[in-house]
Amino acid sequence: MILVTGAKGHLGKATIESLQKKGVPADEITALVRDENKAADLKDKGVQIKMGHYNNYNSLKEGLQSVDKLLLISSSEMVDRLVQHKNVINAAKENGVKHIVYTGIDIKNYETTAIPYVSQIHKDTTDYLQEVGIPYTVLDNTLYADSIGFFSGETFLETGIFFPAGNGKLPWAPRAEMGEAAAVVLTTPGHEDRIMPSPQIPLIH
Ligand SMILES: NC(=O)c1ccc[n+]([C@@H]2O[C@H](COP(=O)([O-])OP(=O)(O)OC[C@H]3O[C@@H](n4cnc5c(N)ncnc54)[C@H](OP(=O)(O)O)[C@@H]3O)[C@@H](O)[C@H]2O)c1
Repeated sequence: MILVTGAKGHLGKATIESLQKKGVPADEITALVRDENKAADLKDKGVQIKMGHYNNYNSLKEGLQSVDKLLLISSSEMVDRLVQHKNVINAAKENGVKHIVYTGIDIKNYETTAIPYVSQIHKDTTDYLQEVGIPYTVLDNTLYADSIGFFSGETFLETGIFFPAGNGKLPWAPRAEMGEAAAVVLTTPGHEDRIMPSPQIPLIH
């Protein structure tokens, strides 16, 4: 059984679609969601639905029962993110999950990045994964090409672009491709105990 957290988010949705395209039967996929009402479409497809909140350890412990592989999609909340990630990892350990795939971020320099808080959480989560000893894969995703508008802002001609700034270079990639990459890692062997950087594709700057 493969469980995807954040299953109703953009990346979770893209990953589940890719898993299904790769032939994983719907009843071997579990979607962890906060609101069951929002998951009716997945339920109709035969995907298993479990309720779980990153702040509610008991919900995670119950939700992760009988799971072999877990895709932990990083929390989108700005408060207690590391605690939330640790809750999921601890629940996975308690349930004997055999492989955790985590969506990190591809940052070359943690000291000079424009997003130190976010980067530090990814680093600390990666460290914790290595500490708990469950086979892991960290997908060091790049920024979503889908969110260029968010980073540039509507008035970028007047205000400039916050991130990446200056001579910063970035291999933007769409969420659909990152979801596909996650699905490959979840369905093929040989990715354990690895941190996988973003592909070295041509850079836009
Ligand atoms: N690489 C980038 O450019 C980039 C940009 C922004 C964010 N990110 C990171 O990548 C992650 C995935 O991106 P996305 O586009 O799929 O984000 P998204 O569409 O906002 O989805 C986030 C998912 O996480 C779930 N979630 C948030 N807090 C939770 C909690 N406390 N307990 C359980 N589930 C929770 C949400 O549940 P609900 O459906 O119930 O809301 C949602 O399904 C984000 O969460 C963020 O950490 C990356």
